[in-house]
Amino acid sequence: MRFWNGSLAAIVPSVLALFALTVSGCGDDVQRPSQPPGWDDGMRLAESYDVNPDPNIVEVNLHAALANLSFAPGQTTTAWTYNGQLPGPLIRARVGNRVIVHFTNDLPEPTTIHWHGLRIPAAMDGMPSPSQPAIPPGGGFDYDFVVPDASTFWYHPHVDSAAQVGYGLYGPLIVDDPDEPPGLGDEVVMVVSDIAIGDDGTLAPANAGGDLASYFGREGNVTLVNGLVRPTLKARPGARQRWRIINAAKSRYFRISMPGHSFQRIGGDGGRLSAPIDVDTPVIAPGEREDLVVVPQGAPGSQVVVQWAPYDRGFGTNLEPSVDLFVVQLEGSPVAAPPLPALNRTLTPLSVAGATPVSIQLTVDGASPLALGINGVTYADAQPFMATVGETQLWTVSNNLDSAHPFHMHGFFFQVQSPGGPLDPWEWKDTVSVPINGSVSFAVKFDDRPGMWMFHCHILDHAEAGMMGSLMLMER
Ligand code: C2O
Ligand code: CU
Repeated sequence: MRFWNGSLAAIVPSVLALFALTVSGCGDDVQRPSQPPGWDDGMRLAESYDVNPDPNIVEVNLHAALANLSFAPGQTTTAWTYNGQLPGPLIRARVGNRVIVHFTNDLPEPTTIHWHGLRIPAAMDGMPSPSQPAIPPGGGFDYDFVVPDASTFWYHPHVDSAAQVGYGLYGPLIVDDPDEPPGLGDEVVMVVSDIAIGDDGTLAPANAGGDLASYFGREGNVTLVNGLVRPTLKARPGARQRWRIINAAKSRYFRISMPGHSFQRIGGDGGRLSAPIDVDTPVIAPGEREDLVVVPQGAPGSQVVVQWAPYDRGFGTNLEPSVDLFVVQLEGSPVAAPPLPALNRTLTPLSVAGATPVSIQLTVDGASPLALGINGVTYADAQPFMATVGETQLWTVSNNLDSAHPFHMHGFFFQVQSPGGPLDPWEWKDTVSVPINGSVSFAVKFDDRPGMWMFHCHILDHAEAGMMGSLMLMER
């Protein structure tokens, strides 16, 4: 690794000098600043192949199987993958498209796919057993749904999820908004995650460290961006980029730090915000997504290293050393970024006046074996919460434990509340971090998709230990 970087650094300046000459001769580039050639080759995700010629249908094959990958020179890791890739292929659709996924399971265990954040029917939500039976090894299932909302989503298993996600099963799904204003920047989809491997590259067992590690929430020792260790992204100084980031790690929070730069946050879990907001070091909890724009700056030939920066989710995580995530390599003649187009989105606040209050307390119900719960009951013993189609509920999730918990509700977006109404600027979310000794309130309106739905902590070790509940949505 070291050696390779060193030799690269020696070659790059001369290439850059040549390149700078080529670009500065081209006047058109000044009006429409483009990124350097091959700018995202170092981390671009493979897209799934759409087998259906109908422009309104995205039909793809997804195949879960073990595959040999390498995260360090000379090491081989037999990871769990979709289509042999980690992350799985990028599935891309437009609002209103029908998405058909022919899924086959060649893992040694049963599995399902949960479409995180998508407002689709309960039968397609991938939760065994209310949505579907778990798909056995050698089995398959056709997921078939319409995507109603534009945003950054992802998919992952919902069987033995701490193990299966930790071993590498996750992938991005982007739903594009045809009415989005142009000029948001050149897009990069980034799935950030980690993986736990030994010195010989083998996967650490999902139960390594026992109950204590489950209580902490296992973090992998290798931090990945699109499955890669410290990849390089090229950028032209001044040319805006748009980074759609998905945190697919099973426990690790990502605070993103880009020295000398700040971001404009334009969207999150449920599409664009009501207005962009400036943020220096965005924090992305497991399950959450961020839609960020950034204008990379610096002398051509220089580099900026984007880092994972420590964040206090509890247990001394604020003391962990920073980790390099990826390198932004500046190339080409600097340009001035045109201003960001107007991005206000009209979002109607849910009326919480007559909303049904629901109180959720995150609990520890037993130390050994570790049992976590909701309102003092682990998932195995829990009765479903109830709601009726059309009802608005006001959930308050309280956390008096010594770590933060990213709370996720399947199938429905919610609006996080501040004392005077929705947070401003506000947004639709499906996952929200409940801070240490804190609480979060959100309003949720249940549209006409009756059935059984789940909610849980997205630290997947916690979900598996029982911090999960179900919600029965009944027809009116
Ligand atoms: Cu990504 Cu049940 O969650
Ligand atoms: Cu948790």
